[in-house]
Amino acid sequence: MGCLQIRKYPDPILRKKAVEVGRMDREVRRLIDDMTETMYGAPGIGLAANQVGRPLRVLVIDLQKPENNDGLIVLVNPQLTESQGEIVYEEGCLSVPEYFAAVKRYGEITVRGFDRDMKPVEIRASGLLAVVLQHEMDHLDGKLFIDRLGPITRDIFKRKWKKKQKEGQA
Ligand code: NI
Repeated sequence: MGCLQIRKYPDPILRKKAVEVGRMDREVRRLIDDMTETMYGAPGIGLAANQVGRPLRVLVIDLQKPENNDGLIVLVNPQLTESQGEIVYEEGCLSVPEYFAAVKRYGEITVRGFDRDMKPVEIRASGLLAVVLQHEMDHLDGKLFIDRLGPITRDIFKRKWKKKQKEGQA
């Protein structure tokens, strides 16, 4: 196992649509383990495979609530099958560090996919879990949370980002 490098905006791999996992093998299991370690190490509550440079439809989530020490969710080839309502939540992303903004998403969702052993799983989620699932599934389609902002907020992000780049170069 090992921590992987997290790709940052504007790395083009974050814009790539990830491809489905056809067969679970040692390599994909290893990727899942490495992604899990990378997420915990960051620390973060979710990670999609494109964020570590592997455009496969794999994501890991752990909301890391202290009362739940077995909260790891591994999802392979996830699909949104039901959605309703809405929730607005202040989101951040390991690939867009130091930037947070309110994003509107479905409030209640059902997601189907496969676990680490390619057994079918169905997750019904609301609240933070629904937000994180949608955020990570967006990654698999090459989308970032900043794409879901309105034009003004998106403009603020771009200006902040450019300023940070300049400071980094100075
Ligand atoms: Ni993210």
